[in-house]
Amino acid sequence: MRIGILTGGGDAPGLNAVIRSCGKSLYKEFKAEKIIGFRDGFKGMVLKDYLELKDENLSGLLHRGGTILGTTNRDNPFKFKVDGQIKDMSSVVVENYKNLNLDCLIVIGGDGTLAIANELSLLGVNVIGVPKTIDNDLALTDTTFGFMTAVDMATEALDRLHTTAESHHRVNILETMGRNAGWIALFSGVAGGADVILLPEIPYSLDKIIEKINYRKKRGKKFSIIIIAEGALEKGSSQTYLEKDRLGGIGNKLAAQLETEGIEARCTVLGHLQRGGTPNAYDRLIATSYGYMAAQMAAFREYNMVVINNGSKLLSVPIGQVSGIIKNVPIDHDLIKGAAAIGVSFGT
Ligand code: F6P
Repeated sequence: MRIGILTGGGDAPGLNAVIRSCGKSLYKEFKAEKIIGFRDGFKGMVLKDYLELKDENLSGLLHRGGTILGTTNRDNPFKFKVDGQIKDMSSVVVENYKNLNLDCLIVIGGDGTLAIANELSLLGVNVIGVPKTIDNDLALTDTTFGFMTAVDMATEALDRLHTTAESHHRVNILETMGRNAGWIALFSGVAGGADVILLPEIPYSLDKIIEKINYRKKRGKKFSIIIIAEGALEKGSSQTYLEKDRLGGIGNKLAAQLETEGIEARCTVLGHLQRGGTPNAYDRLIATSYGYMAAQMAAFREYNMVVINNGSKLLSVPIGQVSGIIKNVPIDHDLIKGAAAIGVSFGT
């Protein structure tokens, strides 16, 4: 077996752990002949830029953040920038895949990366997908690796904001990532005891947030903690962007609105701290099992499929069933119901 592997899209804690487990098991259990890692996602496939993955560079990776292969969330081979012009370079990718005599390509990525992999599969590339993203928004997958580490980071940030908010009798707002899904904000908001949790799935009303802050004040709690997902939006408004296709800024917008209402508020944008650094134990575990599952799929020629986890089971589904489909937080999610029952406001 000759296998190609790449990491695409935004990085997530656990990428290296997947590369390690997939690569080691391909060599040890399945006697693969060669594994090559393409640099910087599909860009490496267009430019034939790769390194050979061997025992030496597959060890020491379990706890290491980022990706040893590099990644990008910009270089789509179907719309590739060449000398300032956008060109379809997918035929070059297919040619390079064939020239390298690869049996299959293991693609570790989120919805955008898996959608590209799906298109390549239609051109004859045998792909196997591994679901990665801190956003946890991939269809049919309960938990993507990277998500729980991001939740830990955001929870710790909330713990720290609690003490300063309480000391200054202020409202502290934490803006989290997640694109159009509120998973990180919901999970860390509940774990970190936020008073208000604002999600893209539930447009909020400013009045309801102020009502909650004032209610707490009346009961002697002179501070409040709000967690807001970057994709959240006020009822009747649209989402807030820093630039085209880059969500962000809603936390500071909300802080300014509260200040206008005479409520002292500060916003902290957690940003890429959610993506960087070492994966937590949970992510190391699922990354290791996803990597091994991908190796088995390669060995048994289960191509054009993606690893998913459903409950505690690892399964595989055709890549077309997940590509381009976003998994949002259902508004009747148990955590939403439970949090609302103990008085957490969702801004409604
Ligand atoms: O998809 C992962 C993610 O971190 C999103 O939560 C966020 O909106 C986006 O990527 C940020 O991308 P960039 O690294 O380009 O700033």
